[in-house]
Amino acid sequence: MSARILPATDDRAIAEAAGILRRGGVVAFPTETVYGLGADAFNARAVARVFEVKARPSFDPLIVHLAGAGERGRVAATDDPRAAVLAARFWPGPLTLVLPRRPEVPDLVTSGLDTVGVRVPAHRAARALIAAAGTPVAAPSANPFGYVSPTTAAHVAELLGSAVDLVLDGGPCRVGVESTVLSLAGRVPVILRPGGVPREALEDALGHPLETAGRDEHPLAPGQLPRHYATRTPLAILAGEAGPPPEGRVGLLAWRRAPERGYAAVEVLAPDGSPETAAANLFAALRRLDAARLDLILAEPCAETGLGHAIMDRLRRAAEPAPGIRGASRSAPPR
Ligand code: TXA
Ligand code: MG
Repeated sequence: MSARILPATDDRAIAEAAGILRRGGVVAFPTETVYGLGADAFNARAVARVFEVKARPSFDPLIVHLAGAGERGRVAATDDPRAAVLAARFWPGPLTLVLPRRPEVPDLVTSGLDTVGVRVPAHRAARALIAAAGTPVAAPSANPFGYVSPTTAAHVAELLGSAVDLVLDGGPCRVGVESTVLSLAGRVPVILRPGGVPREALEDALGHPLETAGRDEHPLAPGQLPRHYATRTPLAILAGEAGPPPEGRVGLLAWRRAPERGYAAVEVLAPDGSPETAAANLFAALRRLDAARLDLILAEPCAETGLGHAIMDRLRRAAEPAPGIRGASRSAPPR
């Protein structure tokens, strides 16, 4: 069955979606990063449905979304001045802060951790929805666990369909990659996931360099599995600009321009060369390549500055071989 989709610009649609959340339902909604799959964060049964719809393992905690920074105390208990500085500078926006939790937050939301991930989305409809629901909204990205995140309402409808009670359509997401997840749980702040707020901007706000959690620090970043954001088609990252394609039906995720010929499908991420444009196009481009019946997707790398950190993080995780599949290579294939 197909999903019910209503325009996020319609106040009646927002009111209806808020009612669904209050009654324990599940609503997909736009944010500036990717579409979220929301439930009342204080209703453990509603949150359980989110895990079910996504087939998400329960060790992976959800981000709690607030209508405004002033609501932080409903879910987090901290007087950390760093949290105040970062919230003042980056909220509303694509930054998730991992903070000591309040005991009222259900264990399912936090996977039993003593911290909670919190953010205030910048998308007007997202904040209007959360405000109208009158409760913080726990929301992961609105995609089946491990697959490419959705940046349009159609992406959500395609794979989740009628499993969600309603999809609010707010058009394509402006940022296109998920929020940066920064942990303030310890003495030293740690980036658990690069995302929409570049590391450089956080370092500037905090006044010191930041650490990024290593790939194997699962207790710190439970959701950061090596393989994630992945296409079903094997994907490999090239060492530089694309040369002629190898044998077979090969697709190319190009950076600035398409090569003249040889590839079965090509997506150009950023004709203007900017990482912001590339991030906004990334997930939709990956989905189109994944639908093109290819044997392999090759991706050109980008410079790791600004949003380039988040883009390369997503591409590396997409390139990680699926468990049990041999031969899908993590780095450049033979030319
Ligand atoms: O941009 C975004 O963050 C989107 C939109 C919908 O807001 N949401 C999103 O949620 O990407 P999700 O569930 O796909 O990713 C949440 C990430 C996971 O890697 C999870 O492990 C981490 O945040 N996270 C959440 N709470 C945490 C906590 N208490 N400690 C450590 N990591 C946490
Ligand atoms: Mg996700």
